[in-house]
Amino acid sequence: MSHELRAVSWTGTALSLIDQTALPRTLRRLDVRDVDTLIDAIVRLAVRGAPAIGAAGAYGVALAVDQARRENWTERALADAVARLRAARPTAVNLAVCVDRAAARIPEGPDAVLAEAGTIVREDLAANRAMAAAGADWLVERVDAGRPLRILTHCNTGALATAGIGTALGVIRELHGRGLLETVYVDETRPLLQGSRLTAWELAQEGIPHQVQVDAAAASTVVGGLVDAAIVGADRITRNGDTANKTGTLGIALACAHAGMPFVVAAPTSTLDLATATGASIRIEQRGEDEVLNPAAGAVPDGIRSRVHNPAFDVTPGALVTALVTERGVLEVASGELPGDHWT
Ligand code: MRU
Repeated sequence: MSHELRAVSWTGTALSLIDQTALPRTLRRLDVRDVDTLIDAIVRLAVRGAPAIGAAGAYGVALAVDQARRENWTERALADAVARLRAARPTAVNLAVCVDRAAARIPEGPDAVLAEAGTIVREDLAANRAMAAAGADWLVERVDAGRPLRILTHCNTGALATAGIGTALGVIRELHGRGLLETVYVDETRPLLQGSRLTAWELAQEGIPHQVQVDAAAASTVVGGLVDAAIVGADRITRNGDTANKTGTLGIALACAHAGMPFVVAAPTSTLDLATATGASIRIEQRGEDEVLNPAAGAVPDGIRSRVHNPAFDVTPGALVTALVTERGVLEVASGELPGDHWT
């Protein structure tokens, strides 16, 4: 079962990652023993998904501490390595938060840093389970279809993106487990195909019925009533509910608003950035041209070198989010500030 896959695990001496660039053809692991190899893995999306890069970042601090000892780094060199790791990708708040949590334990020694990383993983696992149950309960109650549900999702929010069964994909797994899921429309998720390479792979492992569609089909799948709800993950959610997630998410939210269909975000509270007022302040990662122009992806005929706009994420206004599922339950915030006392 794919949810038993561990995208991020600690071997005792190294950080072991599923190399997500090789999926779905090859399931192989990367053993990472130094900070720069981990930064490279995060930048290349060998490990990806907000909670997974958070966990990897926390273990990365443990790697940095060990490397500092082996290579006689100064305190300054260690702090620089931790800062570079923290900044490897800018949009998902989980990376910075988890690196900071692990780094705060450095004065207590290497075991404390490793223990913190382990706690982060266990918290995410538990949050996944809680979100799956709460999200499935909410959908079943809210969408009175009188038959199993048809759900649209975008990008990959499953075991590969988290420490457990996933966020949005965890809710989908739960619906399937309860016999309440008819099918999943999986957006392929251009340009790196996290949907068709990773989500479809995870669903296929468990025999969960699904169909992959091109991203451009999503709006008409929603407006045409082929699905009952859309559920996605998040990389950062600001105080007013604005939600950064994989590019293409905003279009789905707009289509859902038009169709009067629930647009649900599932994310652990570790993805909330309550210090930031609105999504306008979220830094959206711009990625390289080759991801879009690479002829292997079949998008652009060989030899044509256009300029490329390749934002990895977009921001969905909080007003378009019907419900936010976290491990603390479901919050129906169509607009307005997320209540500060809900999270403590
Ligand atoms: O660029 P990626 O693949 O890291 O983007 C991932 C997403 O956008 C996910 O939807 C998000 O991180 C939530 S994962 C539970």
